[in-house]
Amino acid sequence: MKVSVIGIGGVGYAMTNILAAAGFNAIGVDINPKALESPSADASVIRFIKRYKSKITENLILTTDYSQITGSEFVIVVVNTDFDEKQQQLTTHILEKALKMLGEHGQTTVIVMSTLPYGASSRLKAICDASGLDYCYSPIMVNQGNYVDSFFKAPFLILGANDEVGQKVMMFYAQLFQIFRETFPPTYIVSALTAELTKLIANAFLSTKLSYANYVGGLCEKVNQIEGQPVDANLILHIIGNDPRIGSRFLKAGFAFGGGCLPRDLKSLITSCQQIGSHPELLSAVDHVNAERTRVPIKVLEKYLDQPRAITVLGTAYKAGIDDERGSKSVELIEFLKELGHSVSSYDPNVPRTKSLPDILKSAELVIVTTDEQEFTEIGKMLGKKCQVVCDFTITPIVDSNLIPSHVNLFTAGVGWQRPEK
Ligand SMILES: NC(=O)c1ccc[n+]([C@@H]2O[C@H](COP(=O)([O-])OP(=O)(O)OC[C@H]3O[C@@H](n4cnc5c(N)ncnc54)[C@H](O)[C@@H]3O)[C@@H](O)[C@H]2O)c1
Repeated sequence: MKVSVIGIGGVGYAMTNILAAAGFNAIGVDINPKALESPSADASVIRFIKRYKSKITENLILTTDYSQITGSEFVIVVVNTDFDEKQQQLTTHILEKALKMLGEHGQTTVIVMSTLPYGASSRLKAICDASGLDYCYSPIMVNQGNYVDSFFKAPFLILGANDEVGQKVMMFYAQLFQIFRETFPPTYIVSALTAELTKLIANAFLSTKLSYANYVGGLCEKVNQIEGQPVDANLILHIIGNDPRIGSRFLKAGFAFGGGCLPRDLKSLITSCQQIGSHPELLSAVDHVNAERTRVPIKVLEKYLDQPRAITVLGTAYKAGIDDERGSKSVELIEFLKELGHSVSSYDPNVPRTKSLPDILKSAELVIVTTDEQEFTEIGKMLGKKCQVVCDFTITPIVDSNLIPSHVNLFTAGVGWQRPEK
């Protein structure tokens, strides 16, 4: 069976490799030749390619030529979804263009995996109808850094399509899961509108959990400041996470959440709620807490920022273990600090840099750690004499406090100042 994928970004490349390894004739199409020359592969994709190398070599074609999709039984569309800052809404013009292009190459069933804003499917289905394409919106729920495993361990699949198309797509997914002997998750054939809302509501819930944990973090940091005795937000969150109604995942206090999905999907749902007259207050509060949390290091360091400082931010990707800085809140923080007149250097082990970690820390006066990279555990050994503060905003926390020299103050997310401040 021939199956094509349109859009060879992180998700599309993972999907194309999975299809090829499954033994399908897999065609990956991208309009950007660079995306095909050096495709973006996370650690799980690299492992997967190694494991299924011969099958993938045999079955995978990556091309800029749309005509190669002719004869595909299914075409997965997973191009990027843009975000219109002015309208505060996800846009679908990239997707619409892709659907029009693929409509010129024969009839097929289109599975749209790209994230859509509320109400977009009616427009997209009309484009497909005009070219005789069957339409299914099946938003993908994967985690960057772990695309392959999170695809196969998806808690559910949603197929937004009419019953006939939905059944066809379900059989295809079931076949794919069976080939890899993976358990087929609960699968729901629903209207495309229900699928749109399901994806946005699921992501908004995860954002709510993250902001709640960060809010608790801020509360405990304040309690520590007032009471002078540490209360640890992450201990409290760990305890309450034992309650299955609450659950422990995504419930740790740290830095603001970022990335290409959660913050934008949340804003998109807020805008749609406003447009249809449904009150978005709860979601707006989640967004507000996240914006505030981005600036918390500046508030914590307030008294040190009265003069230009040499600040080092550790972790520039939006989470540990990946090189993607899109929507990264630490990048936003760096910009704020620069606007305030400070000299800011940064380091992330996954992002190419010219200086090593010890080199970059040597001259730092203030250090802010935002991602849980193992390499940051021992930074205490690398700090110079000029260093005054380390702020550990990671959820672990990752910095080994025993290695922090006595002249350096340490602030930990969810706790506050670790020693009486000097
Ligand atoms: N990255 C994630 O973790 C994740 C998770 C869930 C959902 N999503 C959603 O999946 C979609 C893709 O995400 P991504 O991170 O892989 O995007 P990406 O930006 O990494 O890649 C998108 C690719 O689509 C290509 N493209 C654009 N227009 C095209 C066209 N007309 N024809 C062919 N190719 C075209 C681009 O050149 C690019 O290589 C988005 O809607 C995103 O919101 C992503």
